[in-house]
Amino acid sequence: AKKAVLGPLVGAVDQGTSSTRFLVFNSKTAELLSHHQVEIKQEFPREGWVEQDPKEILMSVYECIEKTCEKLEQLNIDISNIKAIGVSNQRETTVVWDKITGEPLYNAVVWLDLRTQSTVDNLSKRIPGNNFLKSKTGLPLSTYFSAVKVRWLLDNVKEVQRAVEEDRALFGTIDSWLIWCLTGGTNGGVHCTDVTNASRTMLFNIHSLEWDKELCEFFEIPMKILPNVRSSSEIYGLMNLKVNCKAGALEGVPISGCLGDQSAALVGQMCFRDGQAKNTYGTGCFLLCNTGRKCVFSEHGLLTTVAYKLGRDKPVYYALEGSVAIAGAVIRWLRDNLGIINSSDEIEKLAKEVGTSYGCYFVPAFSGLYAPYWEPSARGIICGLTQFTNKCHIAFAALEAVCFQTREILDAMNRDCGIPLSHLQVDGGMTNNKILMQLQADILYIPVVKPSMPETTALGAAMAAGAAEGVGVWSLEPEDLSAVTVERFEPQINAEESEIRFSTWKKAVMKSMGWVT
Ligand code: G3P
Repeated sequence: AKKAVLGPLVGAVDQGTSSTRFLVFNSKTAELLSHHQVEIKQEFPREGWVEQDPKEILMSVYECIEKTCEKLEQLNIDISNIKAIGVSNQRETTVVWDKITGEPLYNAVVWLDLRTQSTVDNLSKRIPGNNFLKSKTGLPLSTYFSAVKVRWLLDNVKEVQRAVEEDRALFGTIDSWLIWCLTGGTNGGVHCTDVTNASRTMLFNIHSLEWDKELCEFFEIPMKILPNVRSSSEIYGLMNLKVNCKAGALEGVPISGCLGDQSAALVGQMCFRDGQAKNTYGTGCFLLCNTGRKCVFSEHGLLTTVAYKLGRDKPVYYALEGSVAIAGAVIRWLRDNLGIINSSDEIEKLAKEVGTSYGCYFVPAFSGLYAPYWEPSARGIICGLTQFTNKCHIAFAALEAVCFQTREILDAMNRDCGIPLSHLQVDGGMTNNKILMQLQADILYIPVVKPSMPETTALGAAMAAGAAEGVGVWSLEPEDLSAVTVERFEPQINAEESEIRFSTWKKAVMKSMGWVT
């Protein structure tokens, strides 16, 4: 059959904490043509530890590319129309691998992992000056960021120590690991990252946009293992897989976009102007507000981070970020650990049956609390239980917890920015849950606005890849960006009721703190 003729296509790898996807867009219309998704295992070898297998992550990328290409062929779409590939990824998750063998030297230490708390405690005693870390990196010292994870690997894994001594070790976040593998691995793979991912390591100076010698000395991390830092939109290398699968069909296609997933969603939601914000509901939940070309430092527990730099000669944009560690992860926990649902979608049905938590509050502080508290001593609690409480109420309370946590970061954002957000732009897998979206509007007491195509993270990575110099199939000029159609959720309860619920939530949060001493 004759293949359908379309404009140039752009692919995007979206490698999140819970799953990997590959998606293909039409660069002229931003239409999503085909995609495939694979769930990723998380290992919990000890309490508080979270690991993933870097090889499984890589294989999931191959599988997603292969399956998406098959689906395109079934649609009679010629995959040779794919002109560029973007990568977006879970941030901070740390991999160290051997450049000679191509093998990871340890599992990926996931951003949620808490094993480095004692490293953090020790380092915090010797920070040279109050503002040393925050002024350079925009981040507080926490188990969340990559530097302490690399420190732990250097202190605890002999293979990593030896490989560093013998100049064989490379460090990277998931973007670096994937780009290195996809551009040839041991056969000339490109070892790079982009400014957004680099800004989450705590080794990167967000003003000079370079690895910072003083930070590397503070964390005692050898600079020779760090990737080259590039912009978020330029050709890093060409696909060079040498694997016997359909993914090989993309051989020679440039990889030309790279953004941490939250930055990618900001781009995909077209939040290019100062004051525009989006909230993405994935494993965690991340509210980013574009602050333009200024670095704004929060007084209320938010992070300052690099939003994007869309080209080598383009300016850098910054964002204020409110990070919530546990959002979709609480649903996965209800499925995998409590078994009260069989699939994530069932949560909506359970919550709908009761339409209230009946006074039950669930603080899912599984990895301590991130923004705005940054409280590593917190642990999860479910409180307000009576004999009447059943699994439906707990399911409802879990959804409410995601909304309350968003309310806390939105309040912090409004205080830092001075001008309250008039509505909240949302995206991510959980936004398909209508009960969650309505609850969010009720708890924020502002409208919640969702694009009709929720894969904005992948879209952002595809836009960056398609717009790169030497590719040039996607225009990022505002007049060329078609308006996104949206679904709106208006607040339906009154402000007073909303406040009462929120203040009870805060009482529950207080109870979750100080659990670990
Ligand atoms: O900072 C962690 C974040 O990038 C993870 O995103 O989508 O896997 O929740 P996600």
